[in-house]
Amino acid sequence: MLPAFVMAHTPRNARVSSEAPTLRLGLVAVAIAALAGGCRGTRSEDPPVHLNPNMDFQERGEPQEENPFFADKRWMRKPPEGAVAVGLLKDDDHLYRGRNLDGTLADALPPSLKLDEKLLGRGETRFNIYCAPCHGASGHGNGPATRRGGGMQPPPADLHMKRLGPEPLGFFFHVISNGKGKMRSYKAQIPVEDRWAIAAWVRTLQQSHSTTPVAAAAPAAAGAAKGATP
Ligand code: HEC
Repeated sequence: MLPAFVMAHTPRNARVSSEAPTLRLGLVAVAIAALAGGCRGTRSEDPPVHLNPNMDFQERGEPQEENPFFADKRWMRKPPEGAVAVGLLKDDDHLYRGRNLDGTLADALPPSLKLDEKLLGRGETRFNIYCAPCHGASGHGNGPATRRGGGMQPPPADLHMKRLGPEPLGFFFHVISNGKGKMRSYKAQIPVEDRWAIAAWVRTLQQSHSTTPVAAAAPAAAGAAKGATP
């Protein structure tokens, strides 16, 4: 059939050639062959035909890509100096730095943490993961790492030594957070709440091994509780 507009302009008595469809088919075939043939060997700098673009092509910077807009040519921008991400101000000195307002080391858990079985249990498992390899599960400074390769110099501190007994709870938080002497900082590995839990567990270990009459007379759990929040 001829398209409608051709039909409309064909005189009513004109004879429509029966060869027309064959001829048109032939022309279409030749056109397709010419188009397909014309593409062979053609090189193009343009991206391939992308029928459904979705959002595949966007005006945006990729990591490590160059950005001519800025003087330092980086797409990845640094936050302005002093910028603080929402919720990361960390202005609670007790919780985040283990210190009282006057700068001295705090001798209690931060008010946001409750001394209970859960916290001590957490402290115990975290201590056994992060501290026991050097300090030993009981804190005597004889963990498995001290028995390999000729020992450690200096050896890990015995957490039951006299000097550490009177140290405030915040001291252990401080040592875990910042390291001390040859011991490195563990703040990257251990979240703040866990550091406090470990500090409470260190105190528990100290109390449970203490032979002073007060601690010996008190049941282990009560002694631990007393030690952790004096
Ligand atoms: C890789 C071994 C290692 C690990 C793990 C380790 N420590 Fe230590 N720690 C040491 C060494 C060594 C010292 C002694 C550092 C010195 O005297 O220079 C030390 C010292 C200490 C001291 C005494 C600081 C002082 O005033 O003398 C405390 C408290 C302590 N560590 C707590 C911990 C706690 C809590 C953990 C777990 C979060 C931990 N350590 C993990 C090796 C380690």
